[in-house]
Amino acid sequence: MNNPIRGRLNAATLRAADRYAQALLGERKRALFADLPDQIVEIGPGTGANLRYYRPGTRLLAIEPNVHMHGPLRAAARRHGISLELRLGSAERMALPDAAVDAVVSTLVLCTVPDPVAAVDEARRVLRPGGRLLFVEHVRAGGGYGRLQRLTARPWHWCFEGCDVRRDTEHTIRAAGFSSVDVQRYRLRSAFLPINPQIVGTATR
Ligand SMILES: C[S@@+](CC[C@H](N)C(=O)[O-])C[C@H]1O[C@@H](n2cnc3c(N)ncnc32)[C@H](O)[C@@H]1O
Repeated sequence: MNNPIRGRLNAATLRAADRYAQALLGERKRALFADLPDQIVEIGPGTGANLRYYRPGTRLLAIEPNVHMHGPLRAAARRHGISLELRLGSAERMALPDAAVDAVVSTLVLCTVPDPVAAVDEARRVLRPGGRLLFVEHVRAGGGYGRLQRLTARPWHWCFEGCDVRRDTEHTIRAAGFSSVDVQRYRLRSAFLPINPQIVGTATR
């Protein structure tokens, strides 16, 4: 995660891809994040791609283990008027009490965390009853995309610090015991073929 070359490279890649990602996902994210509470936990926020969608004044607890993301993340918080508390740590163990928060955000993170089942369980644990996990994630494909994912999985995993394009994240979320799960599936019209299809949705505790 904090590999001196790949950690930096991933931070640089996220920054370089920021506008492109915004063009691809902006509309979905705006809809997803429309009614967020004033206080949010975000796991793996990277360089802060989501902060532009949060209301100015939002209090954001960000759990980001890659220190090379921290400078740009802080800068994004200043730019968008977000009150940021930044913690090194992991989505799998958030060091928060049970039932403490109303919203946990995860975008393109459950592909990369070492233990996605533990990360989703942990999000559920820290949410209050009625609280929501809001997510945008790429998932395992079938057919031609599935073959492409199999071919690219290993180099992709190496380049992007553990990103696994073959995860069935929808199943992981549905199996976690939320009271309701709302998921939409879509394809990105993008050159990044292995990170298709994707899911967007909410899981309510
Ligand atoms: C592909 S990036 C996505 C960044 C951002 N969420 C976005 O949508 O642009 C994956 C992020 O997950 C972070 N990450 C990896 N393992 C993690 C873990 N165990 N807990 C929390 N974040 C993690 C990485 O450091 C990176 O910032």
